[in-house]
Amino acid sequence: MTVEVSSIGRLGGDPGSGALDVTGYLIANDLIAVEVWDLGATLVALAVPDGSGGRVDTVLRHPDVAHYADPDDRRGYLGATIGRYANRIAGSRFVLDGRSYSLTANEGPNHLHGGRVGFDQRVWVATIGDEEVTFSLVSDDGDQGYPGRLTASVRYGLLGPTLEIEYRATTDAPTVVNLTNHAYWNLAGGGSIADQEIVVAADRWLPVDDASIPIDGPTAVDRTRFDFRQPTRLDDTLALGGVDQCLLVDGQGFRDVATLTHPPTGRSMVVATDQPAIQLYTANHLDTPYTAVCLETQRAPDAPNQPELGPSVLRPGETYRHRTIHTFAGPGLP
Ligand code: BGC
Repeated sequence: MTVEVSSIGRLGGDPGSGALDVTGYLIANDLIAVEVWDLGATLVALAVPDGSGGRVDTVLRHPDVAHYADPDDRRGYLGATIGRYANRIAGSRFVLDGRSYSLTANEGPNHLHGGRVGFDQRVWVATIGDEEVTFSLVSDDGDQGYPGRLTASVRYGLLGPTLEIEYRATTDAPTVVNLTNHAYWNLAGGGSIADQEIVVAADRWLPVDDASIPIDGPTAVDRTRFDFRQPTRLDDTLALGGVDQCLLVDGQGFRDVATLTHPPTGRSMVVATDQPAIQLYTANHLDTPYTAVCLETQRAPDAPNQPELGPSVLRPGETYRHRTIHTFAGPGLP
């Protein structure tokens, strides 16, 4: 029932030259332990019992803090909070209330995961609570091209074998927002995820073009390789190049949407969320691909340009809310 604070390191050279001190927070109960950093409000580790008195880390991490800011490595967004708008915005532009906004482009002509300096590269302000840490951030009007001064927060809290992640945002002018977490899960604690099984309760997916921009709108998953409604070992999927797709999860409101299982150990993780979609991504572009799977709960990609895909706008007086929980079971857990 503690939060331990530690200094992780300094990014960017000498003090006074824009250096950033990074601080880590270890939130632990008698079942699971979570390490989060103020850099990117990042989930750096999530340890569960290994069944023989030790612990196993279920998320990928970089070897040290410098990798989280390194221009190449940071493109993996390991464990980071993604914003202001997760996933792609086509052409790095959108029109809101008749005004056109240009965003920083960082994936060819398109805007990915909040742009050149996304929320993953910012040092958030931490507030410690009982078995929880809340990170807050102000993104100024014009940050990466977005309109409105956005005040965002993400709370990491533990409840038994459950990690809860709760996001909030408010704005002083109309804007778009889509926050998510980019943890790379591997319930074996390392190696390939080929023998892990996934279920995603999604009848529909969003076909995309070569640049991963949605085209054609919501489409049934029947007879596609994006049908994960029954437990599916990932090996066949990986042999076909893995997955990097947006699945539209069934139902509305807070509900269970996905389960990841590692049959050899019996370890599992159930994801519940109030979001309409999951970007399911099997770490295809990491140096060692297919060593983890991301389940990025979110709004639809490019919804600022394709409003028929769902909501994306936040207006003054409204509060953006997003809640996702990860519940673990298996050896050493109830
Ligand atoms: C995207 C991938 C991308 C990865 C890391 C995922 O959300 O869909 O295409 O490579 O994030 O940036």
